Amino acid sequence: MNTVQLMPDKAQFLSDTLTGLKSKPKYLSSKYFYDKEGDRLFQQIMQMEEYYLTKAEMEILETQSGRIADLIARDGTPFDLLELGAGDATKSVHLLRELLTRRQDFTYLPVDISSNIISCLENRLPGQLPGLKMQGLNGEYLEMLAYAASASGRRKVILFMGANIGNMDIGQAQDFLLDIRKHMTQDDLLLIGFDLKKDPRQILLAYNDLNGITRAFNLNLLARMNRELGADFRVGNFDHYATYDPESGACKSFLISLKEQTVRIGDADKIHFLANEYIFTEISQKYAPGDIEALASKSGFRYVKHFTDSNGYFVDMILRTEQTCLV
Ligand code: AVJ
Repeated sequence: MNTVQLMPDKAQFLSDTLTGLKSKPKYLSSKYFYDKEGDRLFQQIMQMEEYYLTKAEMEILETQSGRIADLIARDGTPFDLLELGAGDATKSVHLLRELLTRRQDFTYLPVDISSNIISCLENRLPGQLPGLKMQGLNGEYLEMLAYAASASGRRKVILFMGANIGNMDIGQAQDFLLDIRKHMTQDDLLLIGFDLKKDPRQILLAYNDLNGITRAFNLNLLARMNRELGADFRVGNFDHYATYDPESGACKSFLISLKEQTVRIGDADKIHFLANEYIFTEISQKYAPGDIEALASKSGFRYVKHFTDSNGYFVDMILRTEQTCLV
């Protein structure tokens, strides 16, 4: 199988890094977490007791894939099933299996920023799900969506699960959904997963686990810059710090410089850190049900159905475009 690749290259990683670290305040994009080591650490995060998100969405997919498949299958016309940020696809496998037993004609198009995870999927899924037609797409969400929309005239079902949308703040999420909608027609559906606002302590613990796995995940960003950009971060000179604000629903992660220090990036650039200066590395936005409704309608989507777990921690929402907003 030949993966379609449209990846940010090393030059892009370097320029994004320099832009972020020369800004005030400093920031880095969470999309760069996912190299081979980051993938491994994220797999561990998903298995942690504290990280309730995966278990909650897994329950939805395990127990309600039949109903989701009914909605997706519609009249049985062939479609492309595009999954944005597919990761290891352990949740979507339940849905894929349902669709296969219904003898639905569809092609699975997993999109992921990690080339490592896409080749794992291409090696594993055909054996796990006999009869599955698939094509891995290694790159960024919107570029791959545009590619998929132009490469096929079939209707599309877009999966955007795992609370991946949480990595955008609410304004960015709205812009992103508007962009997605531009690539959708009236026949297409979007299934999108949101982590819900809940006990603030429970949320914070999911991003600040006692075994330090999330800490290692965050610090790996520095190690990756050392590996790929020839940077000389002393990883031990930084710490992981997570916060959750119940009012805005923003859970944020930072890397804190433990001392005043200067770090070299690539051949030419030097970045100075004050003691206790931070790098903002990730937002994991949490939503109240009303926040989701507002976001969907502001970006031109209409509610179709939602599915939630028995604890009410997580929601998978199925949306379609407003007819009046067709482009
Ligand atoms: C993959 C974006 C859903 O924000 O919960 C987990 C990534 N970061 N722990 C999330 C993550 C720290 C995760 N998403």
